[in-house]
Amino acid sequence: MGKLFIKNIKELIQVEETIKSKVCGNKMASLPSIKDAWLMTEDDKIVAFGEMINSLEITDTNEIEVINASGKMVFPSFCDSHTHLVYAASREEEFVDRINGLTYEEIASKGGGILNSAKRLQNTSEVDLYNDAWERLEEIKKTGTGAVEIKSGYGLSVEGELKMLRVIKKLKEKSELTIKANFLGAHAIPLEYKDNRNKYIELIINEIIPVIKSEGLADYIDVFCETNYYTPEETDIILQAGIAVGLEPKIHVNQFTSIGGIQTGIKNNALSVDHLEVMEEKDIEDLIKSDVMPTLLPSCSFFLGIPYAPARRLIDSGLPVSLASDFNPGSTPSGNIPFVLSLACINYKMTPEEVINASTINASYAMGLSKTHGSIAIGKKANLFITKKIPSIAYLPYSFGSNNIETIILNGKIAN
Ligand code: NIG
Ligand code: FE
Repeated sequence: MGKLFIKNIKELIQVEETIKSKVCGNKMASLPSIKDAWLMTEDDKIVAFGEMINSLEITDTNEIEVINASGKMVFPSFCDSHTHLVYAASREEEFVDRINGLTYEEIASKGGGILNSAKRLQNTSEVDLYNDAWERLEEIKKTGTGAVEIKSGYGLSVEGELKMLRVIKKLKEKSELTIKANFLGAHAIPLEYKDNRNKYIELIINEIIPVIKSEGLADYIDVFCETNYYTPEETDIILQAGIAVGLEPKIHVNQFTSIGGIQTGIKNNALSVDHLEVMEEKDIEDLIKSDVMPTLLPSCSFFLGIPYAPARRLIDSGLPVSLASDFNPGSTPSGNIPFVLSLACINYKMTPEEVINASTINASYAMGLSKTHGSIAIGKKANLFITKKIPSIAYLPYSFGSNNIETIILNGKIAN
C-alpha cells in the first residue's frame, strides 16, 4: 500500500498530541486544530502531520499520492455508535399513521413498530439483507461516517437474530468502514411470548448467546430498557449473560420513561447509555459518578416529534456527550451524521465545536475505539475526509442538508 500526502489544508480538525479517550463538560467547547496544515498517511495509518511552514517538499510519485487541499478542511471520519441499519423493509406507512395522529407507542401496541420489522425480516434472505445493508453503508460513507455500530434486534427468534448477526459479520469482513456488532435480542417481546416473557429471555440466554460466543458474532450486548419492553431487572439479567461471554453492554434507556435503566447500565459498566430523552436529576447525578458515555440521538426526536434530550444540562454538569444517528426503519430512517450535527446545534444548543467532539472522539469512546479512531493522531487509523471549500467549522452544521464532503479516505485509501 502507498502513502498519501495532503497539503495546504486550510484547517486540520481534532488533532491530538497525546491520545485521550473522551472530552467532558466544558472541555467539549474546544476543538484542537492546526491552520494551514499537512498530513501524511502510510498504509492504513496516520503517520505525521503539522504546519505547512514546517513541511517537507514532497512531490507526486508512484509511492506517494499528493492531494492539494487548499481552501478545504480535513476532519477525522465520524463514528456512528448507534445504528440498526440491517433491516428488511422501510416502514413509511407508520410515518403516515403518525402524521394522522397516532404515537410511536400506539403504533407499536397494534403490532407495528419493532414487531412489524421482525415479521418482515423472517421472510427476507441473508443475501437480500446483506445487499440492502451494503447500500446503506455506501450511503453513510458519503456523509462522512468511517466507523459504525450495527445492532441486531429485528430477528426476535433464534434464527432471526443469528441471521442478522451473520449479515453484520459479513459486512464487517467486506466493508472499508470499521464495524462493531451489537446483539439486541431484547429489543421487544415477540408476540408469541407475550404471556411468557421469561421463556424468551431464557431463549436469549441459553440458545442465542452461546452461538454468539462460539461464532464470534458480536462485540456488544444491548437491551431496550423501557416501559412495555424490558424492565431494569430483566435488563440486568440479560446484560450479565452477555458479559459472561465477553460482550460489553451498550443499552437503550430513558427514551420515553425513566425507570432505572441508567442505573442498570452503570452497575454493569456499560460503554454507553443511549437515547436519554427523559432524564431525572438522579440519572444525571449517577452518570457523573461513572465512566459511561451518554449518547444522544437527535434525529430520533426530530422524526418522532418526541422531546429532545437535555444535552446542555448534561454538558453543563461536566458530563461528556456523544452523538449518533440511530439509523433504523421505525424511528430514524437516516444515517446522515452532518444532519445529526445540525439538529444538535439547533435543538440541543450545542456549539459546532461540541458537536464535532461528540461525533468524533466521544463517539469513538462509545464504540470502544478511542485508541484507534475519532481524532487525527499519529498511529490512528487513516479514516478521514476532506471537505469542499468551506469558510469555517461552523459552516458544516449551519449548511444543513448540504453535503460538504469532497474526498473520503478510509484505511489510507481514497474511498469515493
Ligand atoms: O432506537 N428504541 C428502540 N429501538 C429503535 C427503534 C426501532 C424501531 O422502531 O424499529 C430506536 O429508536
Ligand atoms: Fe436505537
